[in-house]
Amino acid sequence: MDMFKEYSPVKELYRLLPVMEPEGQELSEEERVKAIARPLLSWFASNARTLPWRTNQNPYPVWISEIMLQQTRVEAVKPYFKRFMEQFPDVEALAKAEEEVLLKLWEGLGYYSRARNLKKAAIIMMEEYGGAMPKTYEALLKLPGIGTYTAGAVASIAYKIPVPAVDGNVMRVLSRLLESRQDIGKPQTKKKFETLLLSSMEQKEPGLFNQGLFEVGALVCIPNGAPKCSLCPLSSLCKTRKKGLWDEIPVKSTKKGRRIEEKTVFVISGQKEEKEWVALRKRPDQGLLAALYEFPNVEGHVQLESFGEGTQKNREISQIIGVAEEQIQQVEFLGEAKHVFSHVEWHMIGYGIRLGNSLPESFVLADIQELEGKYPLPNAFLAYRKALFKAK
Ligand code: ADE
Ligand code: SF4
Repeated sequence: MDMFKEYSPVKELYRLLPVMEPEGQELSEEERVKAIARPLLSWFASNARTLPWRTNQNPYPVWISEIMLQQTRVEAVKPYFKRFMEQFPDVEALAKAEEEVLLKLWEGLGYYSRARNLKKAAIIMMEEYGGAMPKTYEALLKLPGIGTYTAGAVASIAYKIPVPAVDGNVMRVLSRLLESRQDIGKPQTKKKFETLLLSSMEQKEPGLFNQGLFEVGALVCIPNGAPKCSLCPLSSLCKTRKKGLWDEIPVKSTKKGRRIEEKTVFVISGQKEEKEWVALRKRPDQGLLAALYEFPNVEGHVQLESFGEGTQKNREISQIIGVAEEQIQQVEFLGEAKHVFSHVEWHMIGYGIRLGNSLPESFVLADIQELEGKYPLPNAFLAYRKALFKAK
């Protein structure tokens, strides 16, 4: 990779020497972090994955990929990243993005506010930075959706500014290296690691150093199951490996319980002018999944057993969803589905409802051919969207 252009055999030999801990004296945390730079960079030079956003030092793809990588694994991000760069190849294109196109592209990644913040930040870049990305860590940090992690990743990778980029993977690796039992679910712990790295990280190649840490976290010091210490460039310096404590470190407090919301989802479909339609509704502009589309739904579980037979059942449904009773041709139970957000879980049941030729005005009637391409439908409803396509 061209980022390793400056090759010197002597330097390379020196880099490859194992780093040994001095006998009898314990390294300080700063010293330990400083000592990992050499083995980490050397290891990264031959173990870096080839990733689509690692092609050059352009800050834009680094920014986009880092935002996507905060919520999703590398493999899953690749196709999203590719589509995104085709559709919005630069800041200007992103600033002009149509909201629905942008959200549609983001569908499946979750946390739609991240997509909205990308656009907001791009508009600021157009207005205040002549369409370029700001060139300092501090200026990056001021933009919507950019926190210390993203600002650090962009500044270090694209501009070689020696600032840390601490995410969950980095905290896991560092906690193990240092045998730190501080709770990595707490903001103070992240702050502590950022301060430590700021003073002790590699100064000349901060981008490679940070990416090396991401890579160790993804490939070697893995989150689930035993870390692959025998392959790890930090192993001779790692306190957790020495004591065999990987299953105790890192410490992470369990998440506070999520609120559980029960919902009944209605997949209301019909035919009009030779086309298959399904009823959608736009969600409110604020809050969870703001301004996205959804299948009409009501709170609570409307139980099938509580429906009477035939006409009575149709009457109850017609009252719930507000369509004329005579229009209901068929009602079908679509089963249960669950979707977990960060603070809420939706426990859903669903009904497929087939209507006659007049479809309700109160909903957005989406041509089902266009459902895939046009309407950003959150993943939470995926189970019922599948049911819709299976039925056809
Ligand atoms: N995880 C977060 N950022 C990453 C990056 N730049 N490369 C690989 N994995 C990552
Ligand atoms: Fe993780 Fe093992 Fe490497 Fe320590 S030696 S950082 S525990 S993989």
